[in-house]
Amino acid sequence: MNGPRNDSAARDALDVSAIREQFPALDQRVNGHDLVYLDNAATTHKPRRVIDAVTRFYERDNANIHRGVHALSVRATDAYESARDTVRRFIGAADRREVIFLRGTTEAINLVAGSWGRANLGRDDEIVLTGMEHHSNIVPWQLLCRATGARLRVAPLSPAGEVDLDAWRACFGPRTRLAAFTWVSNAIGTINPVAEMARVAREHGAAVLVDAAQATPHVRVDVGALDADFLAFSGHKVYGPTGIGVLWVRREVLETMPPWQGGGDMIASVTFEKSTWNALPHRFEAGTPNIVGAVGLAEALRFVEDVGVDTIARHERRLVECAVEALSSIDGLRIVGTPARRAAVVSFVLDGIHPHDTGTILDHEGVAVRAGHHCSQPLMDFFGVPATTRASFGVYNTEADVDRLVAAIEHAREVFGA
Ligand code: ALA
Repeated sequence: MNGPRNDSAARDALDVSAIREQFPALDQRVNGHDLVYLDNAATTHKPRRVIDAVTRFYERDNANIHRGVHALSVRATDAYESARDTVRRFIGAADRREVIFLRGTTEAINLVAGSWGRANLGRDDEIVLTGMEHHSNIVPWQLLCRATGARLRVAPLSPAGEVDLDAWRACFGPRTRLAAFTWVSNAIGTINPVAEMARVAREHGAAVLVDAAQATPHVRVDVGALDADFLAFSGHKVYGPTGIGVLWVRREVLETMPPWQGGGDMIASVTFEKSTWNALPHRFEAGTPNIVGAVGLAEALRFVEDVGVDTIARHERRLVECAVEALSSIDGLRIVGTPARRAAVVSFVLDGIHPHDTGTILDHEGVAVRAGHHCSQPLMDFFGVPATTRASFGVYNTEADVDRLVAAIEHAREVFGA
């Protein structure tokens, strides 16, 4: 793992030391060891420039937006609305009015289910999902089905944990109204063929929702090139703050959607008899939004653009290949999910050691991973495991981190005599 790398790898390489210096949280000791942070699929750390942007906003510009006449309110409004422009550019959207700020991917999917779903689905209509969805792309649809009489259809996976396009196609029929699927699996890292999946949905006249929560940190997202209606992601998984996320909705679809939450800022006028709605996208941003969150998210997206999405993707691809190779050589370790196209996630189980115990021993060694069902219980059932231990990588991880992971796993095996 520490041997010389080939020329093309060296040419494409990131200056990871310079990147790491920008992340203060990485520079600490945990349980007597230098921290190795491999829980990036749960949340990423924040570069100094994001922390500074948030602090600067609170120190200088803090005010409520859209309704104030004073200077700070104007500055705060400008910062919030210019964050919307940054998001528009980052995801390749045609129109800034298509970008809605909300809490995160979960809230975004609930908005689509509660607004578009209730207006467009009825008894016996169908929603197609894959077998690898996060609970946030399952439960909102179950609630919608309960309210409307619609039904879920779930596309089966291949044994490797990939979407089989023939099986996907077979799930569509005359009653399919929506296909909702993840771009990248949070639990096993599969990168789905989203363009082909969307094409199949379109051929059957279905709307398309893409959960991009695990895609935005790792692959280039371009809604202009993707034939989708809805795309959602969370700020905190892409080096931004928690509590801020984005729902992108194709303009023609957004214009037809009824309001979801009612309150301030989403209205044009209110009387006790009747209210009318604000222009897009404010119609879907009721109440005071997470203003500073949007400011921090925009700075995070600029950080990713400055480093380069493709450079990050190449770096992480090398790391994850290195991790898969190293973990595969450990006796008694089984990698859960073996997709051909994998983003920066490796899940595994160890013979004779519960995944939570593995996670705890790794933490004692200063290696932070996640253990559990990763909010993907149906996927765990598919693989016949209650849980896995998951290592997930980000722009600041190194091959030395993979070495530390391997050493900590070997230590866990010694502790348990496994
Ligand atoms: N969805 C997050 C994860 O995969 C919390 O860890």
